[in-house]
Amino acid sequence: MVKAEIFEVGPRDGLQNEAGVIGVAEKVALVDCLSRAGFARIEAASFVSPKWVPQMASSGEVMAGITPAPGVGYWALTPNLKGYERARAAGCDGVAVFAAATEGFSRANLNCSVAESLERFAPVMAAAVADGLPVRGYVSVVTDCPFEGEVDPGAVARVAGALRAMGCTEVSLGETLGRGLPERVDAMLAAVLGEVEAGQLAGHFHNTSGRALDNIEVALARGLRIFDAAVGGLGGCPYAPGAAGNVATEAVAERLAALGYDTGLDMDVVAEAAQMARAMRQQ
Ligand code: HMG
Ligand code: MG
Repeated sequence: MVKAEIFEVGPRDGLQNEAGVIGVAEKVALVDCLSRAGFARIEAASFVSPKWVPQMASSGEVMAGITPAPGVGYWALTPNLKGYERARAAGCDGVAVFAAATEGFSRANLNCSVAESLERFAPVMAAAVADGLPVRGYVSVVTDCPFEGEVDPGAVARVAGALRAMGCTEVSLGETLGRGLPERVDAMLAAVLGEVEAGQLAGHFHNTSGRALDNIEVALARGLRIFDAAVGGLGGCPYAPGAAGNVATEAVAERLAALGYDTGLDMDVVAEAAQMARAMRQQ
């Protein structure tokens, strides 16, 4: 079987969007459960401004509370050097910077232009290289933007190429709104592949219109083998009005298995984590 990786983002992309306050102990329990499921990487934290995303304010405590499992990397979002320093102090194994393909989303999510966001990431990259930590780069709104509508694939390719050129080891393509049609995802990928190799790309699909699994198949056909997903379909983005959850890890794992890809996940443990995630959502 061909290997494919699910990069679990539930504890971050999922829980950042929950309306209710979720306690540190519950977050720690979710990450610890996920640690037993066979993921190589879990996005467990986000060191953004707590004024912007209060749900992630406890990220340092979550990182201090988890029981790291051998072979599992614990990753975090870092929008700037301050976030990177917090992630480093918390013992993260990798960090992610995040840019957007449109000016409108960049302004809403990071309070700056796309060019300014890339400038802010440069010192994060330098510090991470010095510390030997890998950096993932996200591009948000790769097909549709809540502020600007349909997104030019060329703009996505430029930002993806810039992230790769500054040293990101992997670029995750965020279909933030979850409304992207497979044809448009395919056109976007064709453009991005002119700048970044398939092996260095990940697909990050939300599932508002129920097309995320179709979009994953399109990405598989283009050579991508890494997919972000959240157990229980948790999630959304606080700065993307109307966006629903991430595609559910359990659904992606099942589809990948049906297509002959091996994710190495223990589906019983994934189901246990999905149940915990759904219970958190109901709070
Ligand atoms: P700003 O207000 O322009 O920046 O925010 P600032 O530098 O003036 O900072 C404001 C306050 O936050 C200051 O505190 C800073 O010290 C503090 P004050 O002086 O007022 O007391 N601050 C921080 N505190 C802790 N950690 C930090 C940090 N940085 C500043 N790292 C900023 C600019 C980038 C900070 C803000 O816009 C921000 O935090 N944005 C993050 C938004 C976010 O997390 N969005 C969701 C994640 S992205 C996503 O979900 C998409 C993705 O899933 C892919 C997809 O689906 O597309 C990845
Ligand atoms: Mg997302």
